[in-house]
Order: sequence, then C-alpha cells, then structure tokens
Amino acid sequence: MPLLDWSPDFELGVPAMDETHREFVDALNALADAPDAELLARLDDLVAHTDAHFAQENAWMAEILFPPIHCHKGEHDNVLGVMREVRERVAAGQLELARVLARELPEWFRLHAATMDAALAQVIKAAGFQARRGEALPAA
Ligand SMILES: [Fe+2]
Ligand SMILES: [Fe+2]
Repeated sequence: MPLLDWSPDFELGVPAMDETHREFVDALNALADAPDAELLARLDDLVAHTDAHFAQENAWMAEILFPPIHCHKGEHDNVLGVMREVRERVAAGQLELARVLARELPEWFRLHAATMDAALAQVIKAAGFQARRGEALPAA
C-alpha cells in the first residue's frame, strides 16, 4: 500500500504543477517502500526531484511577480534544508531518519499543496501564465 495516495484534491489545474506533484508522490512512495540498502538512493532521488520542483515554482513566482513569493519560497527552503540534513545523517548510517522523514512528508505536502501551491496555481491561471517545466527537472 502506498504511503500517500494521489487524491483529486491535489489537482490544482496547472498541468506542469500537477505533473510535478504526481512525481513527488511517486518519489515519496518509492522512498517509503525502499529496503534499507536502497534508502539512500531513493532519498537522493527525492531530494533531487524536490530541489527541481521547488526551483521551478520559485521561478514561476518570480516571473509572475507573485506577492507572497518570500513566504512560499521560505517554506521551500526550510523543507529542502531538512531533507538535505536527513540525507547527510542517513548517509552516516542513521537509516531510520529516512523513514521518519517519509512519514512526516505526506501531511506537509497535503497542507502545502492546499494552501501555498493552490494560491500560486490560482494566480497562474488568472494571469493566463503558461507555466512550463524547466529542462532541469529530472523525471521521478
Ligand atoms: Fe509544489
Ligand atoms: Fe510550493
């Protein structure tokens, strides 16, 4: 059973964003399902994908002059900082921390998608902005 099921509630109506969020859910589930020997690799996948995911949203916010960009980007920076710290500790042998991170992320994602990302999606749609995925975003 996946850690986090995709929900219609996650669909924000901006295809590039929804596609990225589906990949995030897949990468998170892959981490949750990973045996110990693959935890670090799956965590690296998730961190790389999240880095690109957040950078892409940050770039869209800058491009459309999204007023709460600092609040939204600040949360991205915090989450990525936690992920990177966990990655270092997992690499040092504290494997359980990867499982703790995986258990915490679904609740964070639900709230972030329903608030900050939903607000960004509304502004993108209202502005008629064509949000496109950057070349740098790796496939999950
Ligand atoms: Fe997002
Ligand atoms: Fe976001």
